[in-house]
Amino acid sequence: MSKNKQKKLKRQAAFEAKKAAKKAEEKAAKRAHQERKLSEVQKMIANMSESERQAWEEQMAQKRQARKQTSQEKRARLQQGQREGQRILIDLDFADKMTHEEVKSLCKQLLYSYSANVRAQKPAQLILTSAEGAIMEQLRKQASGLDNWVVTLHAESYMTAFHDSISDLVYLTADSPNELTELDPSKAYIIGGIVDRNRHKNVCCNKAMSQGISTARLPIDGYLQLNSSFSTVMTVNQVFSILVNYLDHKDWRLALNTAIPQRKRMDDNENEVSENECAHHSDEHIHKKRRTENSSDLPVS
Ligand SMILES: C[S@@+](CC[C@H](N)C(=O)[O-])C[C@H]1O[C@@H](n2cnc3c(N)ncnc32)[C@H](O)[C@@H]1O
Repeated sequence: MSKNKQKKLKRQAAFEAKKAAKKAEEKAAKRAHQERKLSEVQKMIANMSESERQAWEEQMAQKRQARKQTSQEKRARLQQGQREGQRILIDLDFADKMTHEEVKSLCKQLLYSYSANVRAQKPAQLILTSAEGAIMEQLRKQASGLDNWVVTLHAESYMTAFHDSISDLVYLTADSPNELTELDPSKAYIIGGIVDRNRHKNVCCNKAMSQGISTARLPIDGYLQLNSSFSTVMTVNQVFSILVNYLDHKDWRLALNTAIPQRKRMDDNENEVSENECAHHSDEHIHKKRRTENSSDLPVS
């Protein structure tokens, strides 16, 4: 093995070890925090009179009930979206174009996309096509609640699953000459389920063109100026969030601003970050926050 390769492997091993140590540290801190909270509550209850304890228990039961109701409402909204909402497909037919790390990153982006749909006021009809093989195997590992997701899974490609309505399909790609102006409820928009740091240039546009499918790009230029070190190629969850934000507010500027990290925009001059880091933008933050607040209505990774 060459010296360079050895150095690279050593660096990688050190990075992985540091990551694992940080994770363990965070886990321990979380456990300590939970234990502290529990003992505080136990102390508080011990110091209560009988009537105070009853009132407190009633209050807790009401809070639990309110959380349950919010969760049921969200699920009902998701189910309605799944019946009659805007169709958004994620094409998972790119397993052979990604490394294992990229597949893992894609699965995280699918989790964030699902969370964005859970939070939406008008959830989309989320459809995963070519949902089989290595990507689904990995997704099952990262999303243990997958069986409870309100989502349509097609093991076959969109060309097979939608063979009788191919003219409804619009492949979204940054390379399209056509700019989206609105979302047409009769269309099904496809997002390419790929994480490649744009190594495979034009892959989605070429695929759609060879299949005779319409294409469209997000209307970024008209609404935002991106920092010059960033391209207009977004991650899967950013595109998905932009679409569901647009469905909620019918405002491209707002939708783009909400989903595109501040650092990507012209008014910020921080350094470039990787595609994986971009994917961890607000979606991850919200995902983690919501999981802490109410773990029952979100996918668990
Ligand atoms: C990381 S990108 C894929 C990049 C890939 N190299 C390509 O050429 O398409 C993931 C997906 O997000 C969607 N996407 C990203 N940026 C977009 C944009 N500006 N307009 C429309 N769709 C976009 C596309 O569906 C794309 O397949």
